[in-house]
Amino acid sequence: MNTSKKILTVTDLKKSYITKGNTYPVLQGINMEVNQGEFIAVMGPSGSGKTTLLNIISGFLSADSGSVMIGAENMLHTDKNKQAEIRSSILGFIFQDFMLINGLTVRENIYLPQIIGKKDNAEMDQKTQNLLDTFGIAEIAEKYPNELSGGQKQRVAVARALSNTPLLILADEPTGNLDSKSSAAVIESFLLAKEKMNATILMVTHDAIAASYADRVVALSDGKIVKELLRTVEPRQFMNEILDFLKVVEVSR
Ligand SMILES: Nc1ncnc2c1ncn2[C@@H]1O[C@H](COP(=O)(O)OP(=O)(O)OP(=O)(O)O)[C@@H](O)[C@H]1O
Ligand SMILES: [Mg+2]
Repeated sequence: MNTSKKILTVTDLKKSYITKGNTYPVLQGINMEVNQGEFIAVMGPSGSGKTTLLNIISGFLSADSGSVMIGAENMLHTDKNKQAEIRSSILGFIFQDFMLINGLTVRENIYLPQIIGKKDNAEMDQKTQNLLDTFGIAEIAEKYPNELSGGQKQRVAVARALSNTPLLILADEPTGNLDSKSSAAVIESFLLAKEKMNATILMVTHDAIAASYADRVVALSDGKIVKELLRTVEPRQFMNEILDFLKVVEVSR
């Protein structure tokens, strides 16, 4: 069962982009609390700021104001070294554009995040192999990212995100390019990480099926969280609630 320990607290977060002297507000006061062990889906139309939000939470992008607490650390007011330490010890990422390292093979990409944890080599080899098997990418383990299809890259990215057993997984459309079988494998891996490691998952998605497995769905629109839906029923039934809810808040794209 979940404890009510907060792992992530976002308070009055604001962010504008300035392009050619014009200011475009994207996040206009985001408030959000996430308990350890929760699986949250963030939905909202294209351009509503979902990727921006994830990039600020992980410290890759600065904000204009507000705070992002991960455990006891404010990611917005901590130095680069501490941010990097939090990223490598607590966070796991699945980026919208994968961000695999092109000079490394699939196996090496998945192996890499574990090095910082200083486990022994045999354990890291085993973990890497387990992830390769789980995601059906063992056959392409010695290939390089630019030799893979979009869906294969996606699976490598998910496997890599899980390899350092992160407490908080930030995933940007992790099922976006996948067939239904691979999507199900991604969602199952999240549910497993949640169950076995009390991991927390913050998943941006346009996919109502993927979202139906979350404990809570939040909808982003016009720079704010406009609605929140708690799951109290089975995923299949919850999906219908999500589809209705998206119609109501007009965030479906
Ligand atoms: N580096 C940037 N400079 C200027 N504007 C940007 C930048 N990055 C994003 N934007 C703008 O900010 C808005 C939010 O972008 P963001 O990528 O966060 O949206 P999103 O919700 O993730 O969309 P999608 O569902 O298409 O991935 C968009 O209007 C986008 O054009
Ligand atoms: Mg995005």
